[in-house]
Amino acid sequence: MTLAPAPIEGAAGPGSGNRVPRPIPRHVAIIMDGNGRWAKQRGLPRAAGHRAGAEAVRRALQAAADHGVEVLTIYAFSSENWRRSTEEIADLTALMRFYLEREIKTLDKEGVRLRLIGDHSAFGGELVDRLEKAVERTASNDRLTLVIALSYGSRAEITAAARRLAVKAAAGEIDPASIDEAAIGAELQTAGLPELDLLIRTSGEQRLSNFLLWQAAYAELLFVDTLWPDFDEQTFAEALKVYAARERRFGGRGSAA
Ligand code: FPP
Repeated sequence: MTLAPAPIEGAAGPGSGNRVPRPIPRHVAIIMDGNGRWAKQRGLPRAAGHRAGAEAVRRALQAAADHGVEVLTIYAFSSENWRRSTEEIADLTALMRFYLEREIKTLDKEGVRLRLIGDHSAFGGELVDRLEKAVERTASNDRLTLVIALSYGSRAEITAAARRLAVKAAAGEIDPASIDEAAIGAELQTAGLPELDLLIRTSGEQRLSNFLLWQAAYAELLFVDTLWPDFDEQTFAEALKVYAARERRFGGRGSAA
């Protein structure tokens, strides 16, 4: 992949061919849905849909970088995806390993920091090793953070955070009365990331599917009909335009937060 130079004043850089109005969301998350349907429409195996989906990840990352988005979080594998066939899980694992192997050098060179949420250790073997090395290698990069959700489930994430706080309270390390939203946020795997501004789901489905439930509290939600493998820089730019046109109220009456 080639990531363009950082954009100036929110204008799209080379590669996107689009200018989008401000504000640009700092943190965008995507539920990448529709790989299977894309493949079926073409009489191809599901694995071909996932391969095409991996190319769409490159385009989304490129577009995010072009527009100056700080964090892109992608739902690559949910904790419920373990219910899929052994063959499909093996295909997805191999594909992610291949993607990392092929892209890591460029991602690092272009200042992309990789972060993981979920329980990536559930994959075992070489993928875990490669993921952890990639996280380590890119740890000091600061141009754009790519967060990959792997074996991720939001309820499990919130439950684990609550349990950790309960353990601290039981040990007398914290006062239960001091547990506020910030304390819970600090225990989530997304701690330290900017608030989620925009959550996109492709393929026409309108569900959150246990993705970033806490983090999406005030995010703008956007459901697009595009199947994930067809997602490109243009789709991303359109999403940013919709975002810029929405008035965010954060429960109040004005647009500022
Ligand atoms: C949902 O489509 C997609 C997934 C469960 C997997 C997402 C994975 C990728 C895009 C590929 C690789 C990722 C990286 C990080 C390189 P679906 O299979 O549920 O589609 P369907 O609803 O049409 O069946």
